[in-house]
Amino acid sequence: MFRTLLITSAFLTAGWSSAALAQQTPDATAQAQAAEDALADQIGRGAEAWANTCSNCHNMRSPTELSPAEWDMTVNHMRVRANIPGDVAEDIKAFLILSSTPVEEAPSPDGN
Ligand code: HEC
Repeated sequence: MFRTLLITSAFLTAGWSSAALAQQTPDATAQAQAAEDALADQIGRGAEAWANTCSNCHNMRSPTELSPAEWDMTVNHMRVRANIPGDVAEDIKAFLILSSTPVEEAPSPDGN
């Protein structure tokens, strides 16, 4: 009984504080959500373009085989070699960089 009460109040507190935070900073919350959505879109496009483009000439290399810095360089190189449009290359890069490291360590593609 005490345990249930404790858990329930923990939930209530967590729910209340995030609601209060959203109320205090509606713009910041909306902006963060929009940035998150845009990044998710880019990663989705990148994964698709990667699957469709990067196996045309050679076997696909797993994202985990290279570091984020190496992917940055490699995709620039492949963009020129394979004549991949700049925006598509950026999407592929974002996907590979995010997928090359565990989620908690991954930097965002724009380096922030
Ligand atoms: C037009 C054909 C072509 C396409 C499309 C292409 N590559 Fe390549 N790729 C090559 C060739 C040729 C080499 C080896 C020679 C060189 O490095 O230029 C290479 C080499 C590589 C290498 C390093 C060599 C190795 O050890 O395997 C990686 C990594 C790589 N490509 C990844 C990619 C990725 C990621 C994409 C998609 C963005 C891609 N490639 C698209 C032709 C292509």
